[in-house]
Amino acid sequence: RTTGRGQAHAKVILFGEHAVVHGAAAVALPLGDLPIRATATWRDGPLTLASTLFTGPLAQAPALLEAPIAVVHACLTAFDLPSEGIAIEVSGEIPAERGLGSSAAVAGALVTALADLAGRELSEEEYLELVAVGERVAHGRPSGLDARATAASGPLLFEAGAARVLASTLTGVLVVADSGVHGRTRQAVASVASFLERHPVRGATLVAGLGALAHGGARDLTANRPRALGEKMSTAQGMLRELGVSSQELDALVDAAVASGALGAKLTGGGQGGCIIALAEDELAAVRIDAAVREAGAVATWWHRLGPVTPD
Ligand code: MEV
Repeated sequence: RTTGRGQAHAKVILFGEHAVVHGAAAVALPLGDLPIRATATWRDGPLTLASTLFTGPLAQAPALLEAPIAVVHACLTAFDLPSEGIAIEVSGEIPAERGLGSSAAVAGALVTALADLAGRELSEEEYLELVAVGERVAHGRPSGLDARATAASGPLLFEAGAARVLASTLTGVLVVADSGVHGRTRQAVASVASFLERHPVRGATLVAGLGALAHGGARDLTANRPRALGEKMSTAQGMLRELGVSSQELDALVDAAVASGALGAKLTGGGQGGCIIALAEDELAAVRIDAAVREAGAVATWWHRLGPVTPD
């Protein structure tokens, strides 16, 4: 074939970010309406990339693109593709470094596009391993949660490296609000590791507490208990704040969301910047929360409508 096509999507972490790196359970929600798409086309000349961040020969791409470059090279080796004569294009609406899984989604889109160009059927393991190549460059110790979520069809309970789609019945709207500050997953992951070293007992309690909230949250999703789920989100935010991964900007958005009627709110993903998520009972509540978080400094918001999910 002349062009390979691939796609992967953004995610929000509902529960368990950071704790999952230390073995706790986590719940992620894929955002199917925020896809990253990639194409890979045979074309004479060097290996090139066209994206919003950089367009030109891959060999001249800036250090910022270190992770996707590592993924491309790993794919060329894995799929026996030549290291020249391919033009890669990446496009999508997921903002980078906002805790929405853009790095794993870009990696997922690249892996599926290059596999398609090579005419290769990918096993789930191969896909996850190749996406992980980029995640390791991005922040050293990926749990694998983001990689799983890029291809998931519904809310995912992730534990001990395995994931299962939950039969969610929860209704409501999840308002995602961007603080405008770049998240720094690598630094945030390192500051949690340092907290755990300095406060081993408290640290272990917080990791276990966040894992328990993920399990309880998974039950709330399947039993459609938005109030209980919202309360757990706010409890998780308090624990994440104590671990040092929130920020003034994120706290301000969380407080504004709760004050305007959110059932609960918390940061999502790496933290120390990036996005918060707030649970709204219905669309009317979402309108109020959306206005309040924008007033409190959010530079962008997205709505994710929650509805019944049947695992396939
Ligand atoms: C980043 O989206 C989620 C973290 O838990 C890191 C990881 O799970 O690899 C902070």
